[in-house]
Amino acid sequence: MKPRVFVTRPLPGEVIQYLAARCDVRVHPEDAPLKPAQLAEACREVEGLMACGVRVNEEVLNRASKLRVVANVGVGYDNIDVAACTRRRIVVTNTPGVLTDTTADLAFALLMAVARRVVEADRFVRDGRWPCWKWGLLWGADVFGKTLGLYGFGRIGQAVARRGRGFSMRIIYHDVRRVGQAVEQELGAEFVDRETLLRESDFLSLHVPLAPETHHLIGARELALMKPSAFLINSARGRAVDEEALVQALQIKRIAGAGLDVYEHEPHVHPALSEMPNVVLTPHVGSATAETRLKMAMLAAKNLLAALEGRRPPNAVNPEVYS
Ligand code: 8YV
Repeated sequence: MKPRVFVTRPLPGEVIQYLAARCDVRVHPEDAPLKPAQLAEACREVEGLMACGVRVNEEVLNRASKLRVVANVGVGYDNIDVAACTRRRIVVTNTPGVLTDTTADLAFALLMAVARRVVEADRFVRDGRWPCWKWGLLWGADVFGKTLGLYGFGRIGQAVARRGRGFSMRIIYHDVRRVGQAVEQELGAEFVDRETLLRESDFLSLHVPLAPETHHLIGARELALMKPSAFLINSARGRAVDEEALVQALQIKRIAGAGLDVYEHEPHVHPALSEMPNVVLTPHVGSATAETRLKMAMLAAKNLLAALEGRRPPNAVNPEVYS
């Protein structure tokens, strides 16, 4: 008998076909989140779960007595209670690598957009408010030659550094671990302490996973250390920033602006942010290109099949289930 698998979103046909050749697959037909109770019900008889845009918690796991693998379609897996999975010897996998450059592109797009006021300028033209060329129209901030601060220097942080180098930026970073000298040299990146990062960055871009240690990593105290001319870019996780403190810092012009792809209470966005012209907002689309979304779904499917077929999946985040 083929193992049963549940897929939480309508993923690309070729991925579903790939799975269907080896599994009995059921796909949730809507591109909308399932409530925990609905997900729990759908997981009752399945051995494999392709988790995309859902929260997998105890409520789900308690009902899913046959579950052996949760393949997350995403590199961040804060949506999954990994400890609870490990206790039940359920392997959890993610999709690192395939979305690195795509997410770095979006971080840099937010940086450019907020520095050069691209969204404001677009609105200005569309609204028919452009009477003639003007000397003082829509001045922004230069990007080239400025200091790019990266908070978190894993795959995505390093990919953003590469982009910054192309713009002749000075690159500084902070992370819990310093990278090797070879990487620092290749990227021209300088390791600095937290406070120096906050004080010296013209653009501070976050690239940390969400964990108890990174919750509200940027709050009132950190924002107060930043330059009044600095911009905050967040394409990592919304809860890494105290959104209320960010709103206040922007309101009193403690910092110059922000580019945000992620929010503290998605999909809710603090209403004050939507009112601010010096803030660019995108709806958690860091990895959203056709090429990358296909690669993510396929990598998750390969992880899922490996686990179901008794092989070690390439991207297990709790490999201790095998010991
Ligand atoms: C996913 C992401 O699209 O990979 C991640 O960590 O944030 C996004 O690329 C999102 O997690 C939905 O699964």
